Amino acid sequence: MSSATRQEPYAMNLLTTPDYVTRQDLTDWVAEMAQLCGPDNVHWCDGSQAEYDTICEQMVSAGTFIRLNPEKRPGSFLARSHPSDVARVEDRTFVCSIRKQDAGPTNNWVDPREMKETLNELFRGCMRGRTMYVIPFCMGPLGSDIAQYGIQLTDSPYVVVNMRIMTRMGRAALDAMGDRPCVPCMHTVGKPLNPGEADVAWPCNPDVKYIVHFPEERAIWSYGSGYGGNALLGKKCFALRIASCMGRDEGWLAEHMLILGVTSPDGEKTYVAGAFPSACGKTNFSMLIPPKEMEGWSVTTVGDDIAWIKPKKGKLWAINPEAGYFGVAPGTNWETNPNAMSTMEKNTIFTNVGLTDDGDVWWEGLTDEAPAHLIDWQGNDWTPESGTKAAQPNSRFTAPGFQNPAIDSSWEDPAGVPISAFIFGGRRATTVPLVIQSTSWMFGVYKAATMGSETTAAAIGATGEVRRDPFAMLPFCGYHMGDYFNHWLQIGRELTDAPLIFSVNWFRKDELGKFLWPGYSENMRILRWVVERSRGQARATEGPLGYVPHYCDIDWRGSAVTEEQFLKAQSVDSDGWKAEIQSHEALFDKLYDRLPKEMVLMRQLILSKLWRVPKTWGLAPE
Ligand code: OXD
Ligand code: MN
Repeated sequence: MSSATRQEPYAMNLLTTPDYVTRQDLTDWVAEMAQLCGPDNVHWCDGSQAEYDTICEQMVSAGTFIRLNPEKRPGSFLARSHPSDVARVEDRTFVCSIRKQDAGPTNNWVDPREMKETLNELFRGCMRGRTMYVIPFCMGPLGSDIAQYGIQLTDSPYVVVNMRIMTRMGRAALDAMGDRPCVPCMHTVGKPLNPGEADVAWPCNPDVKYIVHFPEERAIWSYGSGYGGNALLGKKCFALRIASCMGRDEGWLAEHMLILGVTSPDGEKTYVAGAFPSACGKTNFSMLIPPKEMEGWSVTTVGDDIAWIKPKKGKLWAINPEAGYFGVAPGTNWETNPNAMSTMEKNTIFTNVGLTDDGDVWWEGLTDEAPAHLIDWQGNDWTPESGTKAAQPNSRFTAPGFQNPAIDSSWEDPAGVPISAFIFGGRRATTVPLVIQSTSWMFGVYKAATMGSETTAAAIGATGEVRRDPFAMLPFCGYHMGDYFNHWLQIGRELTDAPLIFSVNWFRKDELGKFLWPGYSENMRILRWVVERSRGQARATEGPLGYVPHYCDIDWRGSAVTEEQFLKAQSVDSDGWKAEIQSHEALFDKLYDRLPKEMVLMRQLILSKLWRVPKTWGLAPE
C-alpha cells in the first residue's frame, strides 16, 4: 500500500479492528492514515443493513438527512449540500503520473512528490472531531474476475451510506478481496472540528478541493468535497480514471458507458454498450421502455454509467462495476423514465432536490405543474413564483440497482455479458446525423474520438458551449488521450468477433431550433436497427459517413415521425462536415505527440469522400 510520511500522532479514542480483518497491509495502512488524519474514532464498515440504518439515523439527528414521509417514500432521505459543493470539480481534478506526458494535455498534472507534500499537509488532522470510516469495497459482482477491490477511508457518513448503495461493500467485499490488490482511497470533507465546535449539516471545504489520482501507485486522494464523483471514490476516480490505467496496462477497457440488453419477440437477446457525455440521458436510455406498438421488444439494464470490458476468446465481455444509480433527478418523470421512477420509490437517498409539504421530493420536470409550496434545495421556502430552481440542476438520486424493474437477469453475472454493438452519442444541435454505422473498427474509433458535446450541469463550468469529448471520457481518462485511442485500436485488432460501432445524435435541431428527433422511448426504433445490424438482419446503405438506414429499414409502428423529418435528421451537409472535420485538427494538434497515425489517415479519407458528395447528401424519399 502507498504510504504518506509519518506525522505526529493525534489523540484518538479508539482504533479497533474487527476479527475478520486478516490483512496486515490493510490494518497497517488504516492505522497510519488514522495517525495522519487524527479522527476521534475509527469504524470498520461491515456493510450490514443495521449499520446503514444506524448511520442514517445519526445523520437525521445531526441535520444532514431529512427522513422522507415513510408512506410516500419508505426508507428514503433527503440531503442538502453546501452551495459550493454541488458537482464534480474538473479544474481541481489531477492525474499525477510520474511523467507529465503520461497524463497528457487533457488532464491537470502536478508532480506526484509535490502533490503528496501538499496532501500530507492538508490531511494532517483533517478528521479531528469526526469518525474515520473504513469502507472495503468491490467494484463489480463479487467473485467476478473482471471485478477490482478498493478500500476507502472517509470522514463522511453520507459517503458511507451512498457507497453501500453504489458498491458491494463491507465484510463481503473484504472476504471476496482475499489477497488481491486493493486500491487505497483517501477521502476527507476537509472540515476538522475544534473541541466543542458544532458541526454543520454538510461539512466541506468551500475554498480548497483536490481530487487526485496517482496512476502508477493506483491510489486516490480526495480533499474538501462531499459530493458525488468527488467523494464516492469507487465511481469516477476508481472505476474510470484509475481503472482506465489498469485497462491500458492489462489489455481491457474501463469506459463511461451504459450497458443494456435488447430482447426481440423471438426471445433472442443482444447486449449493447453506449457512451454519452454526462447528463445526456444515459440513465434514461439504459432503462428505456419501447413504444407499445413495438410489441415483444424489451430492454433490460445492466448498467447506466460505467462499463468494464474484457476481451475473451475474440469477443468483448462487460460488467457494470457499480451496484446502484447516482442519477440526475431533474427531467426524470413517469414519461421520460418510468423504470427510474420505480427504482427510487423506496430506499433512496436524494441530494439537493426540493422537499414537498407532505415530506416527499420534487424537482423541475417531475410533474407538469409545480407544487404550490416547497422547501428548495437550499432549505428556503419556494413557490412557482420564486423565479429560482427548486432542485439544483445536478441534484441526484442514489438508488439500488436491484430495485430497477428492468434490471437484466445477468447484471451480476461474474462473467459479464457479451457486447455486440457500441453506440457513441454526443449532444449536437447541428451537423451530426441521427444514426450512422461506422464501416470499420478504425472508423468507429475515429468517430468516437471526435465526439462533441455541449457542456452540462454535471461539471462546473459554462453550459452550452461545444467541447470535444472523446468517447465521453474527457474528464475520466486517467492517461494520455492519444494513448487511449491507440489502446482502442489495439483491442480491436485482437478481436475476431468485434462489436459494430454506431454513432447517434438525439439532439439535432432544425432551423427554428426545434428538435428533429423526439428521443426517449422513440430511441428504441434506432436501437432495434442497431441490434438487427449487429445480428446481420437489417438493411443499410453506404453514405459519406458510414452505413445508414433507409426510412423503411426502421420500425415506425405507432410513431409520429414523418419520412421528411427522418431524412432531415439523417442528412449530411457536406460544407458543414468539411468544417467539422477541419475542426478535429484542434484536438489532434493537442494530442499530436501520441496521436495514432490512423486518426490522420481517417480524417483525410473522410474529407476526400466529402469532396465527392453534393452539398446536401441524403437518401431520397421512398
Ligand atoms: C455522472 C457524470 O455523474 O458523468 O455520471 O458526471
Ligand atoms: Mn457519468
